[in-house]
Amino acid sequence: MEIIHLSAECYPIAKVGGLGDVVGALPKYQTKLGHYAKVVMPAYNNSFLLQNEFEVVYDGWGNLGTRHFPVRIFREKTNKLGFDLYLVHIAGLTDRDKVYGYEDDVERFLAYQIATLDWINQWEHRPDVIHCHDHHTGLVPFMTGNCEKYKDLRNIPTILTIHNAQYQGQFGWDKLHYLPAFDLWRSGLLEWKKDINPLASAIKCAWRVTTVSPSYLEEISYNANGLESLLASERGKSAGILNGIDNEVWDPQKDPMLTKNYAIRTVESGKKANKVALCDVFNLDPAKPLFTFIGRLVGEKGADLLPAIFHNSLAHSYGNINILVLGSGEPDVEEKLVELKEWFPGNYNAYIGYNETLSHQIYAGADFLLMPSRVEPCGLNQLYALRYGTIPIVRRIGGLKDTVVDIGDGGFGICHDQTSVEDVGQAIGRAYDLYQNKKQVKEILKFTMQLDHSWDKAAQQYIDLYQM
Ligand code: ADP
Ligand code: GLC
Repeated sequence: MEIIHLSAECYPIAKVGGLGDVVGALPKYQTKLGHYAKVVMPAYNNSFLLQNEFEVVYDGWGNLGTRHFPVRIFREKTNKLGFDLYLVHIAGLTDRDKVYGYEDDVERFLAYQIATLDWINQWEHRPDVIHCHDHHTGLVPFMTGNCEKYKDLRNIPTILTIHNAQYQGQFGWDKLHYLPAFDLWRSGLLEWKKDINPLASAIKCAWRVTTVSPSYLEEISYNANGLESLLASERGKSAGILNGIDNEVWDPQKDPMLTKNYAIRTVESGKKANKVALCDVFNLDPAKPLFTFIGRLVGEKGADLLPAIFHNSLAHSYGNINILVLGSGEPDVEEKLVELKEWFPGNYNAYIGYNETLSHQIYAGADFLLMPSRVEPCGLNQLYALRYGTIPIVRRIGGLKDTVVDIGDGGFGICHDQTSVEDVGQAIGRAYDLYQNKKQVKEILKFTMQLDHSWDKAAQQYIDLYQM
C-alpha cells in the first residue's frame, strides 16, 4: 500500500513530544512490512534541511484565499530514515525556528495542508490512504471530501489518529475564506461549538478515527475537552491502537548517547555506570535511589504538583533519595522546580529545557520514572523506561494503565489511582521499599527489558485498519 502520513512533527527532523516519536517510527515499520510509507511535513528552519541532501519535487504557488505564497516541496534523497520524507516549504509561514507557538499557527498549518493537497492532486496516481495526525492536519479529510478543487482525491481513504484531544486547533469563521471553495451547506462538517474546529472536523470526516491506546478511547467518552458527544457518535468508526516504540533508536545495547551500553545480562553494571556519570554531572549520590521526571511541565502531566511532591518526599526521606527533573513548560512550575535546588542540594536537581541526549541518559541511569499524569493518551516515556530497566511509577490512566502492571498484582511497576500529592508520595514510598530488595529489583528489570513494545504489531494493526 502507499501510505501518506501528514504531521507537524517527525523525529529526528522536528520533535516536541511523543507525536514526533510516533511519526518518525510508524512509517519505518510499515516500510519494513513491505508497504510504501511517506511522511509529508512542514519544513521548519532547522539543521535537518541544511545538513541533508534534498531534491525539489514541486515548485509552485499556494494560497489562503487571496493571499498567495511560494511553495517548494523537498524530498530527502538518501532514504536514510527508513521511509520517504518530504518537507513542504512555504516562505514566510513554515520556515520558523519552533514548530508551534506563533500567532499565525492557523495560517501556517492550513497553508501546509493546502499546499500538500495541491501537490498530491497533480500526481498521476492516487495513494491508498492519507493518515492525518492531530489537529494540524485535521482539515485534510474535509477538504478531500468536499472541496471542488480536490474532487479527484475524494475516494482516497483518510484516517485520523488522535494523539491528544485536549488540543483541537479551533479558530473563527472570519478565516473560512482561507479554505478552497466548497458548497457552503457543508460548513457544519467544520463546526464544533460555534468555531471551526479542525480536530472535530477530522473526527466527522475521516473514514476511520484512532486513539493511541484502547483505554484512552474509553476515557474520551467522558473527558475530551468538549468533544465527548461527538466522539461517542463516531464511535462506530473508531479504534484504540496502542503506540509502539522504535526499538532501533531506543536500544540500551546500541544507543550512542549512553555512557555505557548494556544488555539484559549486564543490566546491573550497565545501569550503574550510567547512573554514576549522571550523578556526577548533577551533583547527586549514586548510592541512593534516583527518581526522575521527564516531560512537558503542564497540568496534563501533573507537573503543577511536582514541586510539592518532591518537597515532601525529600523532606521525609532524610536525604535518602535523589530526584532529577528534565522538562520545560509552565513558567511558574519551572520556577518552583528551580527553587527546590536551593533547598535540597546534593539530593535534587533539575534541567529546565529540552535535551534529547540527556533524556536517553536519564532513562538509562535512573531507578524510577514518575508519570503522575491527569491525562495520558498513550505515553512513551514509560515504554522507554521499561526498555532501559527503569521502573515506572504511573497513575492508572490512558496508555499508562494499558502498559504498566503494579508489583502488587504480580507486575513490574508501581501504580497509583489519583494525580495527588498524597498518592504520588505513597507511590514513592513503595518504590523506596522496593529498592531495598535488590534481588526483586533485578528480576523486575530483567523482565521489563525483554518486553516487546516495538512497532511491529501496531504497524500491522494500522495496515489492517486501512484495508477495512
Ligand atoms: P507527550 O507527547 O504528551 O509529551 P509522550 O510520553 O508521548 O508525551 O512523549 C514524550 C517524548 O518527549 C518522549 O520521547 C520524551 O523522552 C520526550 N521529552 C519530553 N520532554 C523532554 C525534554 N525536556 N527533553 C528531552 N526529551 C523530552
Ligand atoms: C500525545 C500524548 C501522549 C502520546 C503521544 C504520542 O502527545 O499526550 O500520551 O504518547 O501523543 O501518541
